[in-house]
Amino acid sequence: SPPLDELIASLAVDIPDFPQPGVVFRDLTPVFADGDAFRRMVEGLAAPSLVDPRAAALATPGTGDPGFDVVVGVEARGFLLAAAVALQAGVGVVPVRKAGKLPRERLSADYALEYGTATLEVHTDSLTPGQRVLLVDDVLATGGTLAASVSLIEALGGVVVAVSVVIELTDLGGRQRLAPHAVHALWNT
Ligand code: PRP
Ligand code: HPA
Repeated sequence: SPPLDELIASLAVDIPDFPQPGVVFRDLTPVFADGDAFRRMVEGLAAPSLVDPRAAALATPGTGDPGFDVVVGVEARGFLLAAAVALQAGVGVVPVRKAGKLPRERLSADYALEYGTATLEVHTDSLTPGQRVLLVDDVLATGGTLAASVSLIEALGGVVVAVSVVIELTDLGGRQRLAPHAVHALWNT
């Protein structure tokens, strides 16, 4: 089997002018649908080596501590990965959702997308102060989605130890926007 970035690149499909003219959309659905690719993506996203060394230093050696206490996933495509990553690492999963979906007390953050604007929300009791968070999504584009997610996590006292994505669209500058948080991408394009 080829290196993971090559496997992802071979299965992803570029869709010109979706969802609007000028955007080349990287469709990852064939990557998710491939059993070998999905397992390797999940293992890669969950690997302790992905975690920021500052947080890894907090991990207790020899305990199987993955370096994070919980995985936060971003609706909707991030959910497909986050639950599997949490299961792989032996921790729980917390959803960051689009506006209007969460029923209890919540925090909201507005953000701009590569194509449009939206609001993300999190339940205020879904993280405890000091909890180490691995933040997972499928694509890092402008970084607006993940920056809003980081702001929600940090407002609850969570510590983002790493942001892990399948694809980083390098030219859109999302990594700079998320600095100083460590961004780990399985495929940079
Ligand atoms: C996509 C993608 C990321 C985000 C990346 O989600 O899954 O969450 O956009 O773009 P950004 O870095 O410019 O913010 P989308 O909002 O299309 O929602 P979906 O997962 O519900 O399809
Ligand atoms: N592909 C898939 N998802 C995305 C993209 C893209 O190019 N940009 C923002 N979310």
